[in-house]
Amino acid sequence: MAKLLIRGGTPLKGNVRISGAKNSALPIIVAACLADGESVLENIPRDIDVYTISMILQELGAEIWFDEQKRLHVIPDGLDRYQASYDLVRRMRASFYVTGLLLARLGKAEVPLPGGCALGSRPVDYHLKGFQSLGAAVSIEHGFVKAEASKLVGSKIYINRSSVGTTINLMLAASRAQGSTILENAAKEPEVVDLAIYLNSMGARVRGAGTDVIRIDGVDSLRGTEYGIISDRIEAGTFMVACGITGGELVLENVVPEHLRSTILKCEEAGLEIEETVDTIRVSSKHRPQAVDLETAPYPGFPTDLQQPFAAMMSIADGASIIRETIFDRFRYVDELRRMGADIRVDRDTAIIRGVMELTGAQVEATDLRAGAALVLAALAAKGETEISGVELVDRGYEHLDVKLRQLGADVQRIPEQEEDALQEHLGSPLLEML
Ligand code: EPZ
Repeated sequence: MAKLLIRGGTPLKGNVRISGAKNSALPIIVAACLADGESVLENIPRDIDVYTISMILQELGAEIWFDEQKRLHVIPDGLDRYQASYDLVRRMRASFYVTGLLLARLGKAEVPLPGGCALGSRPVDYHLKGFQSLGAAVSIEHGFVKAEASKLVGSKIYINRSSVGTTINLMLAASRAQGSTILENAAKEPEVVDLAIYLNSMGARVRGAGTDVIRIDGVDSLRGTEYGIISDRIEAGTFMVACGITGGELVLENVVPEHLRSTILKCEEAGLEIEETVDTIRVSSKHRPQAVDLETAPYPGFPTDLQQPFAAMMSIADGASIIRETIFDRFRYVDELRRMGADIRVDRDTAIIRGVMELTGAQVEATDLRAGAALVLAALAAKGETEISGVELVDRGYEHLDVKLRQLGADVQRIPEQEEDALQEHLGSPLLEML
């Protein structure tokens, strides 16, 4: 596994350009394959998850590549296979979006059931119930979801709890169904809105995205278009917290402050000074962060993906903070933070953090993408050197994080993996050459 060596203690200073949103890129690259004709997508982050979804779609027959201007081209016309391979799908839960695509485009889908991951059990029961409501016959055989529908027919679907993935998967399937679909209790995340705007630019008819009722009037066909996706609010929030934990001063560029409202408010409560313009956020931290209580929630609440980075900052805050995680089981990183001297106790869905004056460097391991980010932030503040293994998990959702941190003054070195990367070795995809 690749590693990062970080020597802490340097306040981050300078400007950093935030990349496009991973959680927008993944559904939009899949949605591009609903069309007839080429789409050209801008602001797509070149991270591992984007390569994984691209390889899955290539295996199904689509042509996908980055050009010299880093724009992603998607030509779906050759997409004619309905069986997605276990080896790739198991790597990333968002691969399950191809189910909605294949049902809409081919009327048939065989996709491995996405397993659980470091965030606990992650069922797809809401997705399957929604596909059945649209008229698909759905079964699970030998670990594969098998879904088939000669024609998808629009219907009214109530989603049991706010679910980004379910909302997205059903938008994809319903976009080319016969008649209207109403998604009740739909997710309101900015990435859902971004997908809706892209689908409508292709000729779809999606209304209400960003509210909890989305109406999709199915159309017979969609056309490829050019589109630029939104910037990554989770990467932006990660850098805001990195500034807070190191006592630095940063200007984040290419951001949408409105998408970070709850994060901005919580960082201000912790004592960070924040100024925003239409597409930048200046953040500075002149004092030890103040302890803040926090509860994660669906958008516009505090994002679960920033719970772990924020907890890293709370581990050196002045006082005790209580962090409640309401969406996933995602406290496995706490054991790793303890190795660095953090004083954290977890009781079911709640972590109680007593801020310490200083963390110390240690050997730690990333257990999931955002846990890895939390460990990077803790290492930036820790006394001495920290070795973080499992960095390919961080590369899944952050484009060149170590490069960006070095440009801001951090002492970060990447220790490459000893043997060839399994993904590259197995697939030798030209896409990976550009990483
Ligand atoms: C998306 O995951 C994001 N992933 C996650 O980001 C993010 O943490 C999550 O939304 C919440 O915002 C992508 O966009 C690729 P959900 P998703 O469906 O869609 C339960 C990251 O680090 N549920 O909104 O899988 C589920 O278990 C990743 O970038 C069911 O019970 O999340 C969870 O408790 C991590 N049955 C809750 O709903 C279902 O069929 C919300 O999950 C579906 C979901």
